[in-house]
Amino acid sequence: MSFFDTPRRATICGVALVLAATLSQVGLAQGYDEEPTWSYGVAPPPIDPSTVFELPGSGRSFTHGEIRDPFGPADWYPDAHPTMPDIVANGNYPDVWACALCHYPNGQGRPENGPIAGLPKDYFIQQMQAFRNGERKSAQPRKFNTHLMTTIAQGMTDEQIDQAAEYYSSMPWRQWIRVVETDEVPKSRFSLGMYIPLEGNAAGMEPLGMRIMETPENVEHAEVLRDPNSGFIAYVPIGSVAKGEALVTNGGNGKTIACNICHGPDLNGLGIIPGIRGRSPTYLVRQMYDLREGTRRGAQAALMQPAVANLTTEDMISIAAYVASLPVEAPSE
Ligand code: HEC
Ligand code: HEC
Repeated sequence: MSFFDTPRRATICGVALVLAATLSQVGLAQGYDEEPTWSYGVAPPPIDPSTVFELPGSGRSFTHGEIRDPFGPADWYPDAHPTMPDIVANGNYPDVWACALCHYPNGQGRPENGPIAGLPKDYFIQQMQAFRNGERKSAQPRKFNTHLMTTIAQGMTDEQIDQAAEYYSSMPWRQWIRVVETDEVPKSRFSLGMYIPLEGNAAGMEPLGMRIMETPENVEHAEVLRDPNSGFIAYVPIGSVAKGEALVTNGGNGKTIACNICHGPDLNGLGIIPGIRGRSPTYLVRQMYDLREGTRRGAQAALMQPAVANLTTEDMISIAAYVASLPVEAPSE
């Protein structure tokens, strides 16, 4: 470290500073001399809604306002999916936000909502009915977007529910999650229910503890662009995948029931029962917990009771870590 590294020392040594000023402007600038934004306690600046963004490979550009428009969000890759029904692409002002905003046009979704591509159509309809008539609620009353699902379902006609179910069930579920066992994760903030690693002076590592931290592979693509091809990393506790495998494959000595009996041999779903393989582990934990607590009690929810009744939250974390870690076969095009 040179004598003039920090501004403070340079001030104390005023005479030397005058002498050195011309010689050592570089030296002065080397110390930490950014605006101490943290000392003002202000949120990061919002992005101007008129800022234009492009996505490499898409050939399209949208303003930030268009990307997150609840009644017609950006569709970066219109050729990569069938034509969206109007209700999926544009919603129905003011109560029904476009499904594509949160679940994306391809239904891959984000950890804070749900992975809805490739769900059985009848299951999809059943869940919309459960949201609509109050049988499916979050066990966490502050989870605002689950409340929104109720408002959305209540604002839809049966025909619109059928169209949305037909559309999303026609698309395959694709590889989306990379599970990493670790005991340390980046320090993070929440952005609309999603973990985003901190940057600059606030960045660092912290213990994962007993939780799953699902965070974008690419923050700008997920948080700002809502890129439907940019997936997520799920940090899970060390050893959780193996513990989950035991519970999922043989019921963990009577603690639960082997999932493949109902969810299909590869956990890709069976009949009206949804696939769970390779899907967001945060979402999976939340659903098992809601099912155990009884806030999710749609037409078929009782079937899940014996599977979740004796699970601890830690068991659910292990199960979700294992199920999410299973690779998803690429669909044949
Ligand atoms: C504001 C964001 C948002 C919008 C817009 C939205 N959803 Fe959802 N959706 C969610 C959230 C959040 C959940 C998961 C609720 C939970 O975990 O408690 C969800 C869950 C679902 C599920 C259940 C999936 C499963 O595996 O059981 C279906 C089906 C669904 N949404 C369909 C739709 C349809 C159809 C539309 C458009 C008409 C739509 N959603 C619009 C946020 C949204
Ligand atoms: C006896 C049949 C049965 C067994 C065994 C079973 N499930 Fe389920 N599961 C269901 C049904 C039916 C649903 C749909 C519940 C509803 O309609 O609310 C479901 C729903 C789920 C959901 C919510 C999916 C979504 O998209 O929201 C998760 C997560 C889940 N099961 C995980 C598991 C796991 C993990 C196991 C094994 C430990 C398991 N299930 C065992 C029948 C079963």
